[in-house]
Amino acid sequence: MDFKLTEEHEMIRQAARDFAINELKPGVIERDEKQEFPTEQVKKMGELGFMGMMASPEYGGGGMDTVSYVLAMEELSKIDASASVVVSVNNSLVCWGLDTYGTEEQKEKYLSKLTTGEKIGAFCLSEPEAGSDATSQKTTAIDKGDHYILNGTKNWITNGGSAEIYLVIAHTDKQKKHRGINAFIVEKGMEGFEVGPKEQKMGIRGSDTHSLTFNDVKVPKENRIGEDGFGFKFAMKTLAGGRIGIAAQALGIAAGAYELAKEYSKIRKAFGTEIKNHQAIAFKLADMHTSIEAARHMVMKAAWDKDNGNNYDLSGAMAKLYASQVAMDVTVEAVQVHGGNGYVKEYHVERMMRDAKITQIYEGTSEIQKIVISRSILAD
Ligand code: CAA
Repeated sequence: MDFKLTEEHEMIRQAARDFAINELKPGVIERDEKQEFPTEQVKKMGELGFMGMMASPEYGGGGMDTVSYVLAMEELSKIDASASVVVSVNNSLVCWGLDTYGTEEQKEKYLSKLTTGEKIGAFCLSEPEAGSDATSQKTTAIDKGDHYILNGTKNWITNGGSAEIYLVIAHTDKQKKHRGINAFIVEKGMEGFEVGPKEQKMGIRGSDTHSLTFNDVKVPKENRIGEDGFGFKFAMKTLAGGRIGIAAQALGIAAGAYELAKEYSKIRKAFGTEIKNHQAIAFKLADMHTSIEAARHMVMKAAWDKDNGNNYDLSGAMAKLYASQVAMDVTVEAVQVHGGNGYVKEYHVERMMRDAKITQIYEGTSEIQKIVISRSILAD
């Protein structure tokens, strides 16, 4: 067993770290405050290759492995989880889905724009009454020969306003339940497609989350992804990989908050000494470090499984479940280590605590991860 990263992995991690510190950190508090999308920063991440890291080079992607992707996700998330979720959705849900299951024409037309950051993608599964229970969605796409007519509403869509290419999951035949679901590529500007107002969120406020409505949107048949009825499996397969990206995001939020708490403990004095010299603080840092290291091993194992052709449903779900709990616990403790300052925006940790919560909700709540895990371990 070799825990050492390759030189290339180290370079990718360093590049992501440098970008996060130099380009994401300035303005991160203001973007959170104003709910401002990191437009310039996303454009630069596209130029640097962070928007399509794992996608095929012939369509502008980086052709990198999942380990590289999670290393970058961790570094970006240490500083700005709003920017990193844009990267995560674009990479693991949209680019990966299209690269793996799209036709040559779809990849040529759409993937090549998404990998470079020229256009941003969104993944549209959740609905007002179907978040976790993905088969119960109400959006329909009726087959009209050479096109489908799409009707329905999607909720909580990350990149909902900034995206231009949307992967939309819809029922084409409700009688067939999950086997009557398909995934479609929908473009912004198609007649009948409307982006709703931006959600006012607790965390990841720099990312834009919207509801979307489809009123008789005409979607060409060539925009369907995969064989008829493949949509539910498409969503499940894509989300299984997406969960590794969100696990890495949770890990990054935790690691970023821990690093701030550690540094603060070295400069803040109380009772005549730096607070790191009090066991009450040192033990907190020990617990934070230990749980982060455990989460990092789980994230890496899931990425390694994916890169090595192993089933990663279980390792990805476990990594997301555990890392998101660590993100929540560590950020709460990081605020505590900072005392009163932890409650103040300029120290960053209060934002991280708010950002951490979403990692237990999106791309499958913690309860959904437990369903995936328990089904997997009880299957044999
Ligand atoms: N890979 C391939 N196929 C899979 C699969 C996987 N990982 N998981 C399930 N399937 C297949 C099953 O094999 C089955 O197919 P067959 O009947 O042909 O064998 C089919 O899918 C149905 O499976 P289940 O019976 O297990 O389905 P279920 O209705 O019980 O649901 C679930 C399972 C795990 C709960 C699923 O509904 C789920 O993951 N729900 C959560 C959805 C989710 O993550 N939503 C988040 C929204 S996206 C988001 O947040 C993006 C964003 O903007 C950040």
